[in-house]
Amino acid sequence: MKTTKDFRKMKAEGQPIVMLTAYDAPGAVFAENAGVDTILVGDSLGMVVLGYESTVPVTMDDMIHHTKAVKRGAKNTFIITDMPFMSYHASKEETVTNARRIMQEAGADAVKLEGNQEVFKMAEVLINGGIPVVCHLGLTPQSVGVLGGYNVQGKTDKQKDQLMQDAKEVDRIGASMLVLECVPEGLAEEISLSIEAPVIGIGAGRYTDGQVLVYHDLIGGGTGDHYPKFVKSYASVKNDISQAIKHYVDDVKKRTFPEEKHVFFAKEPSTEQKPY
Ligand code: KIV
Ligand code: NA
Repeated sequence: MKTTKDFRKMKAEGQPIVMLTAYDAPGAVFAENAGVDTILVGDSLGMVVLGYESTVPVTMDDMIHHTKAVKRGAKNTFIITDMPFMSYHASKEETVTNARRIMQEAGADAVKLEGNQEVFKMAEVLINGGIPVVCHLGLTPQSVGVLGGYNVQGKTDKQKDQLMQDAKEVDRIGASMLVLECVPEGLAEEISLSIEAPVIGIGAGRYTDGQVLVYHDLIGGGTGDHYPKFVKSYASVKNDISQAIKHYVDDVKKRTFPEEKHVFFAKEPSTEQKPY
């Protein structure tokens, strides 16, 4: 299994780091077997798997439940789990308790926190306690209500300066990685060159130290028809799934499934009768 030290080495050697989200055991198996360097159990879970409109309704129990499944599927991959909405803000005690559960109960190797300033203080407490922290800056979807929508961040000089300053804090507090979401390519490159922590981009252009995509976006498995500009869908499993289910519905309605080969008979030798 790769570790935070390996990711730094990869950055230093200019080897791109591949991150992918996963939410369940099959997704984790496929990701690990395909050679992704690290899996993120993202709270995008809320939107792509649980059917919510945003990541805001996602709970600690949701993250733990799905992290356990991912861990069972990918035993040899570094797993990062998102701390969900408001699980790292109320107090240091609550933040530590929640991060501890994600590590000890669920088996994650690191936690990811969105935001700067006060969040960095919480992150420092976790890091001092031995919990690897991944920071998340730029577009931070848990703050969609405050941001007023999902927009590219860091376009004005003021935002740009703030982001650069925040990125340097990521190094100062000793965070393991930085996820940078939806910022102009030039700024993402500048940040990647300015800090030691590996920078993993999503909608952050070509020059970050690594890339992350949401599993269902990558496989074309989302329920909607629209994907963000920064997504590349490498398959369209949504179409395959829809067609498969339609065929099944037709088959049952027409009584063309099951066929003789799917059926048990009383007179068959017993070995043939094992249903699985
Ligand atoms: O929840 C998530 O999937 C994420 C990635 C998009 C970085 O935070
Ligand atoms: Na997230």
